[in-house]
Formats: sequence, C-alpha cells, structure tokens
Amino acid sequence: MDSDLIKLVNRVQDCFANLVGGELDMPQLAVVGSQSSGKSSVLENIVGRDFLPRGSGIVTRRPLVLQLIHTPVPQSTQPPPYTEYAQFLHIDRRFTDFHDVRKEIESETFRVAGQNKGISKLPIHLQIYSPNVLDLTLVDLPGLTKIPVGDQPSDIEKQIRNLVMEYISKPNCVILAVSPANVDLANSESLKVARSVDPQGRRTIGVLTKLDLMDAGTNALDVLTGRVYPLKLGFIGVVNRSQQDINSEKGLKDALESEAEFFASHPAYKNIAHKNGTAYLSKTLNKVLMNHIRDKLPDMKARLNTLIGQTQHELDSFGDAGLLDDPNQQSALILRLMTSFARDFVASIEGTSLEIS
Ligand code: GDP
Ligand code: NA
Ligand code: MG
Repeated sequence: MDSDLIKLVNRVQDCFANLVGGELDMPQLAVVGSQSSGKSSVLENIVGRDFLPRGSGIVTRRPLVLQLIHTPVPQSTQPPPYTEYAQFLHIDRRFTDFHDVRKEIESETFRVAGQNKGISKLPIHLQIYSPNVLDLTLVDLPGLTKIPVGDQPSDIEKQIRNLVMEYISKPNCVILAVSPANVDLANSESLKVARSVDPQGRRTIGVLTKLDLMDAGTNALDVLTGRVYPLKLGFIGVVNRSQQDINSEKGLKDALESEAEFFASHPAYKNIAHKNGTAYLSKTLNKVLMNHIRDKLPDMKARLNTLIGQTQHELDSFGDAGLLDDPNQQSALILRLMTSFARDFVASIEGTSLEIS
C-alpha cells in the first residue's frame, strides 16, 4: 500500500485515539461474487501476500475477517522474523511463515465447517501485523452459489446470501463485486447482491477477473469503460494467477508482471491499461480510503478546536509563575504542550492535500 497514505492515516488515527478520544472507524472491505470467480485471489493480491486458500470449487467455506494492523518499523535490535507476523483469534501462536497461515485457515475451515463442502457462518479471525499495511479490515466470503453439492443443505443459496448480506449491508462496507469476464455480466450474482444494498452504486467497485480466459475474438472493453453497467467507482479488470500458476507456485511478483504485460500488449486494452490491473485496483482503494478520511476531518477539527478552547481556559486559571515548582504547575505545562500540539495538528491537516488522482 501507498506509504504516504499509511503515514497520514496513522497520524490521523493517533490523533483520534489520543486527543479526540475516539475511533477513526475505517471502512471494511468485503469481496462478493459467485463461486470460483476469483475473490480470494483478488484479496490476496491487494494484501500482497500469499496466504489464502484458493482453487476450483468451494474453497472458502467460512468468512475470513482479516484485520491488517500497522506496527511501527522495528528497532534493529529486534530479530527480523518479528517485523511481520500473523495471529489467529482461535490459537495462541505467532505465525511468521505465511504458508503456515494458509494451512491453519484450511484446518480451521475443516474443523468447523466439516471435511466436505459445508459452510459455516462462524468467521475465522486473522490479524496481520506489519509496518507495510494500513489499519484496515478485509473480509473474504464464501461464493454465491445456486445448486447444493456434497453435504450442503437444500437452502445453501439462501444461507450464503444471508451470510454475505450480513457483511455488505453495513453502510461502512466497501464492496468489491467480483465478476468473471468469461461469464455474461447480465448473470453476475455479485452485482445483483451489491445493488440490493447499494442501489446507487456509491460504495461498490466492480472487479472483472479472468480477462485472460475470454473466448478468442471477444473482449470486455464495454464493461471496463462503464458503458454496460453504471458504478460510480467503475470497473477494474484484473488477471489473477490461473490454477496452473497456483500448482506451479508462481510467485506474486511474477504474477503482477505478467498481468501488467497482458494489459499493455492486448489490442483491446492497451489504451486503458493504466486504469486496470491489481496495482490500479489498490490505488483506487487508497482513493476511497482517502475520501473517507477527508469526510471525517471537519468533525475532527471541530473537536480539536473545542479541546484547545477548554485547555486554554484551564491554563489561564493557573497563572504564569513558577511553572515547575508544584504539581499544579506541572499539569499546566503538560496542558500547554498538548494545546500547542493540537494547534499544530489542526494546522497540518488544513495543509494536507487529500486529493489524489
Ligand atoms: P473464489 O472461489 O472466488 O475465492 O476464487 P479463487 O480465488 O479461489 O479462484 C478460483 C480459481 O480460479 C482458481 O483456480 C484460480 O487460479 C482461478 N482464477 C482466479 N482468477 C483468475 C484469473 O484472472 N485468470 C485465470 N486464468 N484464473 C483465475
Ligand atoms: Na473457489
Ligand atoms: Mg475463495
């Protein structure tokens, strides 16, 4: 993720917590779509880590609530494995190898949702601590499906839909509505559920996967340029790793390079290559987050100004003499420092440009 954004959000977040005494309440991001449309692949690419189970058929059978937690860059005295690690709510262990994280998600899925194809609405909670992330929550969800398979109950379609709705109906949720490009958009389940909670298409980002698997002679230019389905945040095309790539353990970096190459060299997409791909999707998400914070700033500024007014009043009552002599005067000094910090902070957020293109 964009390191300037990480710095800014952390500053705003600290200020909220320490001075204004509240939470910044960042949006949640949830992926929805039909089974095997590429939801887990998209999420993994956004996080920039290989750790999610992916594959054909129903793989994601419990919601995964993934909390990214920003940690300061560690001191050089700390051993390197602890700079980035993962932790589950259900097990008291620090994971530093992300392959083990995937294995743990798999065995936790089996433990609660069974060995077959059953689903469970009980979420797996995973936290990733890293200096390279924003405090943000991402949710991976089971795919929307029509027909029960294996040991699934006859009302599986309804069960998964309700489960998905639980997450995406929250007004604070940004919906990544995933549709595979090799299926007609008119049949897109993700757009259908997204529209039911976000009819104006204000907090839905359309993600078109599997552009590499479209029939020869066809392309998705109309969808990608917004001429087929209206979404304020638009449609972004991506090419994730194929099953073959997964089997041969193709790395994330190689995958991103092939994706960029795909768009740049495709006759239908080369003119819109800069507005597609995983990197552009991440940039768009950053923009959505920036706008969210910008919307919160006026309230924050008002609260800080009230605080400055209050502390100034208290300061006046202390008077000026013998500042460090008695405990009262010491608190006056602390107040004075706090007030000036708050003042600087207000000035600095006024000067901050939150507009990114
Ligand atoms: P989910 O079920 O929606 O979470 O989908 P997954 O991320 O597990 O992917 C399902 C299958 O589709 C896997 O075998 C992926 O390798 C494959 N897949 C996902 N996205 C793409 C893509 O853009 N292109 C190709 N060729 N395969 C993809
Ligand atoms: Na799948
Ligand atoms: Mg999945």
